[in-house]
Amino acid sequence: MPLDIVIGAQWGDEGKGRAVDLLAEKSDLVARFNGGDNAGHTVTVGKKIYKLHLIPSGIIHPNTLGVMGSGMVLNPQTLVEEISMLREAAVAINPERLWISDAVQLITPAHRLLDHAQDAALGKAQIGTTGRGIGPAYVDKASRRGLRAGEILEPDFFASHVRAHFDEVNHLLKDWYHQPGLDVDALVKEYLGFNEQISPYIRRIGPLVQGTLNEGKTVLAEGAQGTLLDVEQGTYPYVTSSCTTSAGVFSGLGLGVQSVRKVMGVVKAFQTRVGAGPFPTELEGELANFLRGTGANPWDEYGTTTGRPRRVGWLDLMLLRYAHEVNGFSELFLTKLDVLSGLSGIPVCVAYQRGGRKIDVLDFSGDARLLSRCTPVYETLPGWQEDLRECRNWEDLPTAAQTYVQYIEKQTGLPVQNISVGPERSALITRS
Ligand code: GDP
Ligand code: IMO
Ligand code: MG
Repeated sequence: MPLDIVIGAQWGDEGKGRAVDLLAEKSDLVARFNGGDNAGHTVTVGKKIYKLHLIPSGIIHPNTLGVMGSGMVLNPQTLVEEISMLREAAVAINPERLWISDAVQLITPAHRLLDHAQDAALGKAQIGTTGRGIGPAYVDKASRRGLRAGEILEPDFFASHVRAHFDEVNHLLKDWYHQPGLDVDALVKEYLGFNEQISPYIRRIGPLVQGTLNEGKTVLAEGAQGTLLDVEQGTYPYVTSSCTTSAGVFSGLGLGVQSVRKVMGVVKAFQTRVGAGPFPTELEGELANFLRGTGANPWDEYGTTTGRPRRVGWLDLMLLRYAHEVNGFSELFLTKLDVLSGLSGIPVCVAYQRGGRKIDVLDFSGDARLLSRCTPVYETLPGWQEDLRECRNWEDLPTAAQTYVQYIEKQTGLPVQNISVGPERSALITRS
């Protein structure tokens, strides 16, 4: 009864969608356990590009079931739009294939407005959220006033809870954030309008997920965001509001730990970040543009959800070792190695300098203030000029690219089991 877990090892956008696509082919059920439509997971199959925000990426394989666990926050409008996007792309979505936990928390338009108002009010200390209402929805969950999907099945109770929610946020927006008031009647009516479309998908997911494992079938847990955005272990406060690490799988799906077979950390061959927060290896200028792409290339580093240019920098092995420590990875899936072609040397961060002292193991839990005082100590590895995009075997890689991969293995103590050299499904080297 194997449970496989895919986790972003950096600040998100590592290529989790692509890694999930690989494992989903051999999985019976794929489940999201954290986050909401702040995620943007890309799967490229031939000329088709799927960009998924809420529904597990593995659903594009016809034989998988998709599950959305209680650790998630769900915007009904995004869900309805995503269902129709997938149907247009000939992916079957129906209540037999897609299950939404009755304990999922719901996002409303008021959460989104509050997200914008709260981030703007931080001034220079803005997090740079995706504006999807994620933080306010998790606040409501933790303060025990959240709207849960199961309430939709009790229409009268749900209608009064939704109204109370809009009334409360209306107060907050007007009186505290000096924003225009909400048209509560119109919002309630519009919001309840999604009930009919999503209620057939809502039920208890525990028996399905546990039953699948009990039958000896494979369950794949699809992480959203990345380890360094985890609300507890990430670069706090520049994080998202959910548990993005492997630990989140168990509470977010309502499972015990005994079924885990592998925990795959997905890591880019360099480092990116969207939004604010410390980034020790960040680059600017020509090199940053080189890593980011120009706008016309398949490796472009522009946010899948917000379209913002991603901040870019060299691979940070200090943070990757930390990610391994807090997740317990069993292997790595390395993406975007193709992007590094053309450099004469490739610096990687192996340690930090802080307060005149060299450290090679983080002595704090992600804290943004402490991380911003660290400067990277680099080791420069040889570069390569060859285009890697047609490589399909380890032997096809130039020696310098092999050395780069082996150096990551040595520094983390983890096997790099898969190496991706392009966005398309087949642009992959799987090592035995
Ligand atoms: P996720 O959020 O972790 O699923 O990652 P995103 O989908 O937001 O961003 C990853 C981007 O990199 C997408 O545009 C992918 O198509 C692309 N991508 C994934 N793997 C590779 C790779 O090996 N090489 C290149 N050039 N692009 C890749
Ligand atoms: P995937 O799953 C990259 C970032 C935002 C912001 C911070 C908080 O595609 O890897 P939030 O809206 O969650 O409150 O924003 O987290 N962020 C992501 N960055 N990839 C993501 O998802 C992200 N989801 C949130 O940019 O810095
Ligand atoms: Mg993404």
